[in-house]
Formats: sequence, C-alpha cells, structure tokens
Amino acid sequence: MSEKFPNSLGGKYLKEVLFTELEVKKRLGEMVFEIARDCRGEEVVIVGILKGSFMFLSDLVKFLYIQDIHPYIDFMVLSSYASSTKSSGKVKLDRDITTPLGGKWVLLIDDILDTGRTLSFAKTYLYQSDPKEIKTCVFLDKPSRRIANIEADYHCFEIEDKFVVGYGLDWNNRFRNLPYVAVIDESKLPAE
Ligand code: IMP
Ligand code: MG
Repeated sequence: MSEKFPNSLGGKYLKEVLFTELEVKKRLGEMVFEIARDCRGEEVVIVGILKGSFMFLSDLVKFLYIQDIHPYIDFMVLSSYASSTKSSGKVKLDRDITTPLGGKWVLLIDDILDTGRTLSFAKTYLYQSDPKEIKTCVFLDKPSRRIANIEADYHCFEIEDKFVVGYGLDWNNRFRNLPYVAVIDESKLPAE
C-alpha cells in the first residue's frame, strides 16, 4: 500500500492523492496569514457553507487563533439539486445563519468553487444583511468549470477538472473524513 493511502481506501476507490495532510496544513497557514492581514481590526464573522466546509473551516479558525483573530462563527446549509458527481443549476437555502452581519467583515467559506453557483448565491444572499464587506474563501478552485461570474478572494489550491474527495469534500456524502485530498476512481464506485 502506498504510504499516501494509510488505510484500505487506496487503490480501491481512490486513485491518486492530490494534496497530503501536511501539504494542506502548510498551504492553509500561508493563506490564513493573508486573511489575517486583511481583516485585522475588523469585527469578523465567518460563515461556512455546510456540509463541505466543516473540516477546512475548523482548521482555518485554529490558524486564525494563532494570528490573534477571534471571529464569530456561523453556518448556512445550502443544497443544489444534484447527483453525486454533477451539480445542477438550482441552489436553495436549507438553513440560515442567526448572527447579525450589519457592519461586519464577513468571510464566506466553501469547500470548492466549481461552477460558482453556490458561492455566488450565498454571497448575494448575505449582502442583503448589510455587512461592511464579504470576502470569499474556498479550499479548492476549479476555474475551468466556472459558469457564474465569481472568483474567490482566497483559495488554497487550484485544481484541474477532476472529481476529488476528502478534507470535507464528498462523494455521495462519503469520504469527507479523509485528512488529505484524493481523486476518486469513478469506475470503481457502485452505480447510483
Ligand atoms: P458549484 O455551485 O458548482 O460551485 O459547486 C459547489 C459544490 O459542488 C461544492 O460545495 C461541492 O459540494 C460540490 N463539488 C464540486 N466539485 C466537487 C468535487 O470535485 N468533489 C466533491 N464535491 C464537489
Ligand atoms: Mg457536496
């Protein structure tokens, strides 16, 4: 078994590790340094889009703590009518945040920027609550798939058009727990 697959998933459902746990942490530390520089002195609210952002957000706020930035934290649940590996056009709000955003510096977080529809919907929606500013932050960016007119203000890594799992990203709600990012082998997955 490859040392990059420290369990039984390697070679079975996963074909390649894109970013190891160490690579993720290293890059996250650099990115958080930029975020801290931009939001120091502001009242910061972090809004995570569930479920995909949970692991990224959890590591990110621990790095912000090291930078002496102590944000409010809230979550919204969005769903897109989707099959396991393709997102569809429609996004809907399943659970709203409860934190007031008026005058605050908001960091909106998602796992991946793919077509951009989810982040674009969330950003437009949150601007209705009169924040001072909304910055967007994604763990991964797949620019080749973009449909909506949106770019992330911060991202950890840019990737090609491959379906990836781990570090919060799922296939059919599975594999979110991997501490690394891997490319899934769609030919080995059970039919939906
Ligand atoms: P968008 O609205 O098309 O930008 O899609 C964003 C959502 O699609 C993400 O929050 C993910 O849940 C999902 N998604 C897009 N690409 C991937 C992937 O490679 N792996 C896992 N989920 C993905
Ligand atoms: Mg998903």
